[in-house]
Formats: sequence, structure tokens, C-alpha cells
Amino acid sequence: MDKKALEALLHDMSTEEKVMQLVQIPGSEYEADAEITGVERGRADEKVKRLAGSTLGIWGAQRLKNIQERYMKEHPHHIPLMFMLDVIHGHKTVLPCPLGQGAAFDPEGAEKGAAMQAYEAAEDGVHVTFSPMSDLCRDARWGRIMESTGEDKYLNSLMASAMVEGYQGGDLKDPRHMAACVKHFAAYGACEGGRDYNNTELSEHTLREHYLRAYGEAVKKKPAMVMTSFNTVNGIPATGNTFLMKKILREEFGFQGVLISDWGAVGEMVNHGYAEDKKDAALKAMNAGVDIDMCSGCYSTYLEELVKSGAVSEKMLDEAVYRVLSMKNDLGLFEDPFRGIDAEKGATVTGESRQLARETVAKSLVLLENRNGALPLRKEKNAFIGPYANTKKLQSSWAFSGDDENTVTVFEGASEVYEPDDIRFSNGCTMLDQDTVTARGKYHTDNWQEENDRLLREAVKTAEWADTVILCLGEDSTQSGEAASKTCLKLPAVQLRLLHEIKKTGKRIVTLIFTGRPLELKEVGDLSDALLICWLPGTEGGHGIMDVLTGKVSPSGRLPVSFPYTVGQEPLHYDIYSTGRPRPESGPTEFTSRYLDCENGALYPFGYGLSYTSFEYGKPELSAEKMTYEENITASVKVRNTGKVPGDATVQMYIRDLSGSRIRPVRELAGFKRISLNPGEEEEVSFVIKEEMLRFWTADGKWESEPGKFHVWLCDSSIDGEALEFRLEKS
Ligand code: BGC
Repeated sequence: MDKKALEALLHDMSTEEKVMQLVQIPGSEYEADAEITGVERGRADEKVKRLAGSTLGIWGAQRLKNIQERYMKEHPHHIPLMFMLDVIHGHKTVLPCPLGQGAAFDPEGAEKGAAMQAYEAAEDGVHVTFSPMSDLCRDARWGRIMESTGEDKYLNSLMASAMVEGYQGGDLKDPRHMAACVKHFAAYGACEGGRDYNNTELSEHTLREHYLRAYGEAVKKKPAMVMTSFNTVNGIPATGNTFLMKKILREEFGFQGVLISDWGAVGEMVNHGYAEDKKDAALKAMNAGVDIDMCSGCYSTYLEELVKSGAVSEKMLDEAVYRVLSMKNDLGLFEDPFRGIDAEKGATVTGESRQLARETVAKSLVLLENRNGALPLRKEKNAFIGPYANTKKLQSSWAFSGDDENTVTVFEGASEVYEPDDIRFSNGCTMLDQDTVTARGKYHTDNWQEENDRLLREAVKTAEWADTVILCLGEDSTQSGEAASKTCLKLPAVQLRLLHEIKKTGKRIVTLIFTGRPLELKEVGDLSDALLICWLPGTEGGHGIMDVLTGKVSPSGRLPVSFPYTVGQEPLHYDIYSTGRPRPESGPTEFTSRYLDCENGALYPFGYGLSYTSFEYGKPELSAEKMTYEENITASVKVRNTGKVPGDATVQMYIRDLSGSRIRPVRELAGFKRISLNPGEEEEVSFVIKEEMLRFWTADGKWESEPGKFHVWLCDSSIDGEALEFRLEKS
């Protein structure tokens, strides 16, 4: 439809019809068995169902086709319904959770993954995904850290941008793609105490320099939609926050697409104490520029009245509705409300999607310890023990459209590469301690103690038979994700008991950790010969993990978040500011900024990860000691594979501005490159440093760089390398 026709359509619509384009209702309104992620809020009346512009949480080619047919027939202007779904890290083929994808340090791979997800979801009738989640997260207590790509603004920016491009492709009309939604705007990841839905307090400079960056970069890729967040930012709920939505998102970022609230967030402004009642909430959300009200009922109940009374102008309403209609138009829905879906076929896992998922899993695994050559596994007796050894529950709580039966377990993967006589499996213990509270209720099994004693006896026997025990431990997938904040980052006690008992057998222990968040792993690392972080790896988990365990692929993932010694260090991140009394690396530490009982930094820092081979970094070099605003300089380093097997190195560049009108972090990631090297092979890796990379939110409230001294590191993680110095000068 051209612009004129779209405007004519808008002109022809009644106020009620227009308002309803801004209303989203759950798919359960149309289908009894839809997956509903939020809090059920009663059923919408028939009129709302007939006119609501979009729905969420349902999929399936035939199902959605039927709903669309029925809906369009009844809609006065036959405007198609828009179907949205949380396709967060996979639809049918489930990739590693976003935190795992962050660990791959591979934006190109993330783009391919997003394109694959778009293809599958679009085949199932889905038009829009609520992804990428671009929230910067420095707090492992927050369950939704699993949905982020980590603690670093630069990595998150690249990942979110790549995902938008992958989901959307070049043209939204292409039915193999779907619209992306950058969320949750803004600063949801900074919720106080790591407690979900909690308030955030951030200075403008922290907000702009760190928390807003990834959203801003992703918006440059023109996502069709942005979602508000549940939290308040400096005392104002994001969903009613005109500074965030109008000044930053629309004016500064230039976002022209549709702004949707998070689930129920418009109505929640009453609980926040920001709106007097739901009508006031609708008014405040409209004033902030929220186009679609996801499931709070505030717009459907009060917006028409607000428009009729003049509290909300017709112009404001029309602008919002026009954005929604334009999005439907961009998706090609007016030409083909079914976007070419084959209702009979729908989406399936394919050989190709499995292959991509398998490679992504292998790239996402982070090797934290490898003593006495424990990995790769030898051709000897290997026992796979633990609640994660043979479970199909390898996807997160946000991968509900993926089917567990397609998942390859670790033991199934092992069975494909080893002779049956050479491997054994044992559950070892239950997944959780009795009565553990999860996001999906209390974990409870009958005869928990007897069952665990029996499983332990069996596991010890299995371990005694083996040469190496591959111990598969971790958090349950219901312990991370939405509404899954925790104050304890240790493995369940029943799993730690298993580890201690297996240790007593004297066998080599390779521990695999399945998790959606950083955990406290000091004890686990000390008791294990090797420690491998597997995240929540998804459909091809068992294959990708076995590729790494057997040495077919050398591990190459890097931590996208700091793993703490103890939860007491949280929030924890590498890009901190120096205090006036930094803790010295050696010598007395009294009266310096430190903990009496713990290191300041992470047990396993950001950017860290081992390989089966070793890399030697040559002396890094700068093309010049000075740069100007017009002339770039280049930092380069030679990296050699000094080990015996091929492997990928992730060369990282960090920069520090030594002094400024506002203090600057001790290090900030400014570039990285993944390179593959054969044994003995060497490659020179170069990064161009441009003036714009040195800009920050100055004391005067401007994005500018300031002349002066800088340090740059080309290294293997956020804590190593030697600094080179250069100056930025005005020419
Ligand atoms: C979550 C969003 C999600 C939405 C729709 C909310 O509870 O915060 O991330 O996209 O539900 O399912």
C-alpha cells in the first residue's frame, strides 16, 4: 500500500478503531492453549478481540492463518492482525541463550542465528519477535542476565545490531524475515539489588555512557519496534518517561518505528505511584509516546474517552496509529496477511539449522580450567554423571516454542562418538534441593532424600568404573529468566555433595556447568580438573558440547560477564572507575579500596577463556604515538599459535582515557577479532583507533573526546596485556 492509501485508510477509521490498533491482547484470547508469559489479567470483551491491532504468544502456520482469516472478516476495515512472539534464542531450532551467544564473541554468527530464527518463526506465521534484549547487565543476581549478551556495552552493541539485521534482513516484506523489537528501554538491567522489576537510579552520565549504548546502536539498524521496560529510571517509570522516550529514543536516536510497552507496564504505573489510576496511566503512557499498550487494558478501556475529552489529541492518536499501520504495511500484511506461509507445513528443525546451532554451541563454550590435560577427553572409560548429563531440558525458559524432543542430550551426543562399552551414564542427584523456589514454583519430589542417596550410590559406582567423570551440573532453567532473581550464586547443595563424593573416588573430573548466569565456582573449579561453561545450549547442546570435549573443535568462547568469587561482589564488572585509593597489585593494601575478605576483581574475568592450544602475543605496536581528530592510528599485534592443535584466538583491544573532565573507566573494550590459527601459524591483528572511539559524555554534557593521554591494550582478556601509550591532540 502506498503512503496515500495508508493515510486514506487512517482517515476513514473511527476513533474506536484507531484506539484498538494500539491495543495488544494475549493470544489466549484467540486460542485456548497459547503460551502466555505475563500475568493473566482477565479476558477482553468481544469488541476488543474483534478490533485489537496485535496479539502475542501464539504460533503455528495453520493456527495463525485461521485466526487471521476470522479476524479480518470481522474487522470493519479488514486490517490484518499482527502476531508477535518472544523468539529470543530460537523458535524450533534453539540456539544457546543470549548470554551464551555473547560468549561466542561472534556478531556475524549472531546475525546468521537471528536470520535462521526469523525464517523458522515466519514459517509459523509470526510477524514480530520481542528481541534483541539489549539491556546492559552487571549483576548476576538478576535472572534476566541470561537474556542479555553480557556486561559490556561494546559487545552488546555489536550483538544487538547484528541480531536486528539478522531478524529483519534487508526488507521486512521478505516473508523469510520478521520485525525486531529492541528491548527493554531503558536500563532494566540496572534494577536495584538485581531484583526483577525493581527501580533503577542512574546518573545521566552512567545512563548515557553505559546503559543506553547498545539500544542506541541497535536502533541505528532500524528495528521496526522498541519496547519500554518495567523499571523506573531516576524516579519515573520508563513507560511514562518522556525524557527517555521522546528526548533520547525519538529525538536523539531518531527512532521512527513503533514503541510498545512491556506486558502490563502501562497499568503498573499505578503501583509505582506515578499514575493515579489506569486512566491516568493511559494518559501518561500516551504522552510519553507509547504506541501499543501490551496487555494492561488501559488503552482499550480509557483511550477513546481521553481522546474524546481532548486530554489526548486526535493528532497524537493519529500519529501513533499511523506508525502501527505503517509497520503492518512494511511487513507486507496488506498485500498478503499470511505472508506466504504454507499452512500445511509450518516450521521444523532442519539439518541446516541444526548445523548452525551446533557450531554456535561449540563457539559459545568457555573453558575456565584445564589441568593435567584433562581435556580433550581421551579414548578411555568416560562416565557422564549429573542431572544435566542426559536431560533434554537444555533450553531456557524463553525458548518455549522449541520442542524438547528435538534436543540432543550430552549423553546422546557422547553415544554417537564412543562405543557403548566405553561410556556410562548416571543421574547422580536431583536437579535441585528439595523445596527450592524457582520462577515456576517450588521444586519438590517425593522421597527426595532416599532418591538422592540412591542416585549418589549409583553415581559413585559409575565413577569407580571410569577413568574420567564428566560431571554435568548447573542451575535449572527455571532459575534464570524473568522473575528469577537470586541472592545465592552457588550450585544446589545436592549437586555440590555429588561433586565432593565423586572427588573421593580419585577419578579425573571434567565439570560442565549449565547456567543462565555467572555462578560462584571457586570450590567447583578447585575440585575439578577441567571446568567448562556450557550456558543453556539449546537443541544441539549435546553435539556442540561433544565437539569440544572430544577435541574436534578447540574451545574458543570468552566470558561476556564477570564470574565472581562471591555474590557479595555483585554488581561486578571489569570497566570500573579507579578510586582515589586503588588497591595496589602488590604491597600493603591497608586503607585502600578493597574487601577485607575477598579480591576486588572477578574470579574469572570478562573476556577470559582457555583453548586447547596456546597463543603467544608479540609486542604490540602503535603506528604513531600521537593522533589527531582527523588522523587515525593503528594498534597491532602478532599472535602465534604455539600449541599442537588449531584454535581460535579472540584478540581484544581495550582503551583507557587517563584523565578527563569526567573520570573514565580503567579499561573499555574497543574492538575484538576472532582469528583461526593452525599450529605454528602467526597472524598480525590490527585495529584502527579513531577519534570517535574516544568520545564520552563530558562534564559539559556533550559527546566529545578530550585531548590527552590514552592507554591501549591488545590482549587476551580484560585483565592482561601491557599498556601502550598515545596522545590525542588537536591538529
Ligand atoms: C517480558 C518481555 C516479553 C513480554 C512478552 C514480558 O513479561 O518482560 O521481555 O517480551 O513479556 O512476552
